[in-house]
Amino acid sequence: MDSKQRLTELQQLLTEHSSNYYVLDNPQISDGEYDKLFQELLEIEKLHPQWITADSPSQRVGGEALESFGQVEHRIPMLSLENAFSDQDLYDFEDRLKRYLLLEDNSLTYMAEPKLDGLAVELVYENGTLIQGSTRGNGKVGEDITAQLRTVSAIPLQLTQTDIPLIEVRGEVFMNRHGLETLNRRRAEAGEDLFANPRNAAAGSLRQLDPAVTAKRPLDFFVYAVADPKGSGCSSQRELFRFLETLGLPVNKHIFFCADIKSAIARFAELSTLRQELSYEIDGMVVKVDEFSLQSRLGVKARAPRWAIACKFPAIQATTQINDVIFQVGRTGAVTPVALLEPVDVGGVLVSRATLHNGDEILRKDLRLGDTVVVQRAGDVIPEIVKPLLEKRNGNEVTIQFPDSCPVCAHPLQKLQEEVVTRCVNPHCPAQRLQTMVHFCSKAGLDIEGLGKKSVEQLFDLQLIHDLPDIFLLKMEDVENLDGWGQKSAENMLRGIAAAKTPSLARFLAALGIRYVGEVTATLLENTFLSLAKVLYVSKDILLEVDGLGEQAANSIVEYFSDPAVQKMFIRFADAGLVPQVAEKRTGKQLLSDEVFLFTGSLQKLSRSEAKKLVKEHGGQIASGITKKLTCLVVGEKPGSKLKKAEEKGKKILTEDAFLQLLPLP
Ligand code: IVH
Repeated sequence: MDSKQRLTELQQLLTEHSSNYYVLDNPQISDGEYDKLFQELLEIEKLHPQWITADSPSQRVGGEALESFGQVEHRIPMLSLENAFSDQDLYDFEDRLKRYLLLEDNSLTYMAEPKLDGLAVELVYENGTLIQGSTRGNGKVGEDITAQLRTVSAIPLQLTQTDIPLIEVRGEVFMNRHGLETLNRRRAEAGEDLFANPRNAAAGSLRQLDPAVTAKRPLDFFVYAVADPKGSGCSSQRELFRFLETLGLPVNKHIFFCADIKSAIARFAELSTLRQELSYEIDGMVVKVDEFSLQSRLGVKARAPRWAIACKFPAIQATTQINDVIFQVGRTGAVTPVALLEPVDVGGVLVSRATLHNGDEILRKDLRLGDTVVVQRAGDVIPEIVKPLLEKRNGNEVTIQFPDSCPVCAHPLQKLQEEVVTRCVNPHCPAQRLQTMVHFCSKAGLDIEGLGKKSVEQLFDLQLIHDLPDIFLLKMEDVENLDGWGQKSAENMLRGIAAAKTPSLARFLAALGIRYVGEVTATLLENTFLSLAKVLYVSKDILLEVDGLGEQAANSIVEYFSDPAVQKMFIRFADAGLVPQVAEKRTGKQLLSDEVFLFTGSLQKLSRSEAKKLVKEHGGQIASGITKKLTCLVVGEKPGSKLKKAEEKGKKILTEDAFLQLLPLP
């Protein structure tokens, strides 16, 4: 057998074994044997990179990092679900269905499915091949996370059937308990924030611009729906599950057919017990009318279908005592009270802190130092206090005083009428400066290697860094002899800092920690203004014209950049060699993202530089000559030899007008 044949065989073997393991839950070979086959595949692909296909098992490790997420419009909206909290809610649900369908009898049947606590995704398969994966987003438009989803082993890159022109399946990507614990342990060691629950962990892992990061996260997947049930050829949810399984998609084992609503209620009780034994977190049970014909008659309301409902498990609770309350100052100056608790086991997790959110919350719940309180985790790792047990009071409890001045800089605190949070408004407050720096270096910011939360705190406490530009001025001798550092870690950090000097503009803007400017708004700013200078001097009116950018964000942006201290900071950023980059090639639905252009001859309507700018603005690239990469030559008047050469090479040739027609009207 030649290596090409062996490669195909290995790809098939590995795909099959991976499906046995993840989808059928029935491994046929040991992990060691699997790894051996995988190594063999990698070796052949290393020798013959031209044979690597997008659906090769090796491609699960993640491709190139993205500059930003593209958008995906769902052909059919992705809905959410209404909640039921009691048996009565389920009886009411059935009553509504019967009234709507004008049914007198009890003929309605249901599917009851575990409600997985993760992130809803849509997977598009064309002729059996996974071509796109996206988040739910706002239901209509989600984010393109194809590259990230490809790294999830439980998601087949190829269905068993290739004769289905198009199928959009939907399901949940989630992280099992063990995976979440391990990940959080590692994050704690690195001084990073912990994921509060499996849902955040799944979302945080998928919304990584660098799919290689996603690939390292232990994510799993179950399918539970298709966008277009009627188009699936199935007549019921029950049948659909069988069909999806034959396609090689992983279906949850604990789905259950219910002949009536009573049986669904009984199933809920069973699932509440079963829940503990599952290796992954579920937060309830979804009940769906089984028959598709009835589903379609019932239709959908604004955000949720009439034919389904989510029964939520009650939260897990325990009682303990409030020993102390501390006040933490965050990046935006918000002061958050945190209760230090007598450590207590809440559903298997040792809890010693709970956020009290804000001052109003303390008053509303009438919490006092020394109180015995009920704490709960609602599928969350970060717990909250439900209420004090008044009957346990002995008179020694002390009211919790919200401070008048900042616990860090002593500046008077401010609480605006329309806001619930109390803030330290001193722009020079060291706590805010520190948290801004922590954010700037963190994964949500520039993701600077070696500058996790603990390191930033240490350098700040030692006054080696005072503000953001200082980070870029750090030197070997500043850190190599510090506690916990050595030459190697110092070198790593310096390499991380050097790499962070050319972030994308969007990433840089999001890293600054401007209020209301997260990744999405930052990406809007980059795509609209295409240069840092333009963002620095933009007016509110112009910002308000940007589709998707609200008044709050506009105010915050203008206020931020008009602060003289911020303007000085930007001069120091530039001096330190920081140059944000505007992405030339974007992923996603940019019009020209797969094209590489070259212009020849004299253009009549555009200047060369305008033409090039248009290409870049729409995600295309510019070639240096008639190269292999070139996809399209645009010819003006009196073209030179390039035209002939491009024709010989079979490249696309466009006139200037045809080129302009590719683009939307200005
Ligand atoms: S069906 C219109 N089935 O719950 C149908 N959703 O609260 C909507 N979820 O966004 C989805 N397990 O992320 C469905 N077996 C299941 C589910 C499930 C978890 C999530 C899903 C959805 C959310 C709605």
